[in-house]
Amino acid sequence: MRRKSNLSRIWLALACALFCAPIAGKEASEPSAAELIEGLLSGRAPVGGPFELTDQTGHRRTDADFRGKLVVLYFGYTHCPDVCPTELQSISLALDQLGAAAEAVQPLFITVDPERDTSPRLAEFVSSFYPRLIGLTGSLADVRKTAIAYRTFFVKNGATTPGGDYSVDHTGFIYLVGKDGRYLGFLPPGVTPDAIAGAIHAWLGSE
Ligand code: NI
Repeated sequence: MRRKSNLSRIWLALACALFCAPIAGKEASEPSAAELIEGLLSGRAPVGGPFELTDQTGHRRTDADFRGKLVVLYFGYTHCPDVCPTELQSISLALDQLGAAAEAVQPLFITVDPERDTSPRLAEFVSSFYPRLIGLTGSLADVRKTAIAYRTFFVKNGATTPGGDYSVDHTGFIYLVGKDGRYLGFLPPGVTPDAIAGAIHAWLGSE
């Protein structure tokens, strides 16, 4: 029941993103949600690329730091009420299932809410899911650039007074990046831990 409700939320958010994007007042140079998603789903757009962000211990990290590992990448935010925690738990369960093979895998969580998700906040959050999960944050510009490269859409929703509450609508695809930094593919929102483990296992075997 819970899974079904989460799935509905994800697709609702996605549909909302598609419709809301044109009126979200974004800069003209930024692709719309529809453009980002279409490029990802069709496989026609390049996905991934270099990034430089700050991890939960305050160290600068680039994509090159993770060469030699199969990267499982998810964009989200720590205040997300249920979708992000569910997806991160699925990734964690998948890695547990893989046992020793998971040592070849580096899970990454990139925040789409850098305003609130500071390194200390991320440190607390990622350690509650998986000991080796790395959380990444940065300037809004750097986060936006990385998200766009991965065809992830996000928009702050219900922005209020300073200190006020808001949510961040975002697409929730899980990305797999090869040991050489090459984008391998994505898994859709709501995918099961078994399916994540299966995909990782298949790529580990083929690399
Ligand atoms: Ni979320």
